[in-house]
Amino acid sequence: MHQPLLKCENITKSYHDGAVETQVLRGVDFSVYAGERLAIVGSSGSGKSTLLHILGTLDMPTSGKVQLNGEDLYRADSHRQAQIRNRELGFIYQFHHLLPEFSALENVVMPALIAGEKRQQALPRAQALLEKVGLGHRGHHMPPELSGGERQRVAIARALINHPKVVLADEPTGNLDAASGEAVYQLICQLAEQLGIAFVVVTHDFALAKRMDRQVMMKDGLIVPAGELL
Ligand SMILES: Nc1ncnc2c1ncn2[C@@H]1O[C@H](COP(=O)(O)OP(=O)(O)OP(=O)(O)O)[C@@H](O)[C@H]1O
Ligand SMILES: [Mg+2]
Repeated sequence: MHQPLLKCENITKSYHDGAVETQVLRGVDFSVYAGERLAIVGSSGSGKSTLLHILGTLDMPTSGKVQLNGEDLYRADSHRQAQIRNRELGFIYQFHHLLPEFSALENVVMPALIAGEKRQQALPRAQALLEKVGLGHRGHHMPPELSGGERQRVAIARALINHPKVVLADEPTGNLDAASGEAVYQLICQLAEQLGIAFVVVTHDFALAKRMDRQVMMKDGLIVPAGELL
């Protein structure tokens, strides 16, 4: 087997509220391989978002190690972490988090500009990505003028603009009707294959989870194979 792209070892996370400690993650171990599509399922409050945030350097584990291509994410300083988030990771959330005062095209191009790429160079790439997600003709539209499914497709294009190695998606279809959700999954599967990008997708929807290459479940603070539950 190749080296894993993303590897977490013995991740724990506890929250303290006065004297009360809540242990959400109790020693999570798992790996994601390049180009792999992994679904994470689990009941509400089981710690899926917490884990995804830790994988994306958006939250600190209480203990344990996360490596991206062998680099220890929590030994990197905050500047390097920001660079990793911008260049090596893509994020998709349940709510699209597009900037409402910018057009679809401008939203997609933004992470490339933040990475220091010239506008003239980045814009054609952003346009090509919008075409890939089926919205080539909607680039000048503002987010409020797009449907929920269309906004999520713009968010996917934005997550891909800097050629990330892995995209972390937290219930990307949680806010969509069944048909739009299905279209978003088809798109994720197709893009993962075409571009060789790994996707880690948290979802409540077992039918959608099944479309991914592998399914794991967050249970009692641990990641376990989802097995026959699906
Ligand atoms: N900042 C925080 N302070 C205290 N407790 C927190 C904090 N963030 C999350 N938690 C707790 O950690 C647990 C896991 O939360 P998390 O958001 O990861 O669950 P989830 O599996 O993503 O749930 P859902 O499916 O509803 O999105 C919950 O019990 C939550 O209340
Ligand atoms: Mg969550």
